Amino acid sequence: MTEFQARQQLIDHARAMNALGINHGKAGNVSLRWDRSKTPEGAGLLITPSALAYDRLQPRDIVWVSMRPDPDLVATDSETLPDTPVFDGGRRASSEWRMHRDLLRARPELSAVVHTHSRHAAALSCLAKVQREGIPPFHYMIALSGASRIACAAYARFGTQALSEAMLDALAGGAMACLLAHHGLIAAGPDLPSALALAEEVEALAAMYAITLTLGGPAILENPAMDAVEQAFAAYRSGQAL
Ligand code: 13P
Repeated sequence: MTEFQARQQLIDHARAMNALGINHGKAGNVSLRWDRSKTPEGAGLLITPSALAYDRLQPRDIVWVSMRPDPDLVATDSETLPDTPVFDGGRRASSEWRMHRDLLRARPELSAVVHTHSRHAAALSCLAKVQREGIPPFHYMIALSGASRIACAAYARFGTQALSEAMLDALAGGAMACLLAHHGLIAAGPDLPSALALAEEVEALAAMYAITLTLGGPAILENPAMDAVEQAFAAYRSGQAL
């Protein structure tokens, strides 16, 4: 795949978030690991630009962000926000570039990240109970997130390093998705289709959990039931018969 094709793929997946009904307007952002060379200087990611409608996006609008620490990225261009990395095309990277960069930097097995403001995940992320406990294992598909509970990252303002750190805490232990308090969800995967599919699944689970809460609260699948599901998923992914 060429960088141009990767940029187009990113645009297709960003538009798909809205088409699937798991995001709206200019909210959300999408990234894909993209190294420009095998040297540390070449390690980076492609990300959607900030505040640009997805149906207007062109491949040249996608922003390349280095994996290197922040001081190397600081833009001096007065058109851009301070400490926001820019691509040659001059677009500002999504305000959430820190979450995308830090997640891809921390988890080499993951190569794509999707952040959405999907309705039910965002609504649940505003409940104190969910902020404390996350979405518990009320349904076996919770295990698809890589953990037996979908945690909720503590609230921090959008676009901050504090939000990125809260997200990493919520994903500790190998989870690939979490809620972000008073905000939405973030999901990752080895490629864009997997990250988008997980974001869609987390939103579906959030909707189901919200319904069960209005019906008096779900029964919970405790261990060893969830352990068995996680083992079955591992076998399922590797193509073994269940
Ligand atoms: P950007 O347009 O900067 O990507 O911001 C959207 C968003 O969802 C912030 O959390």
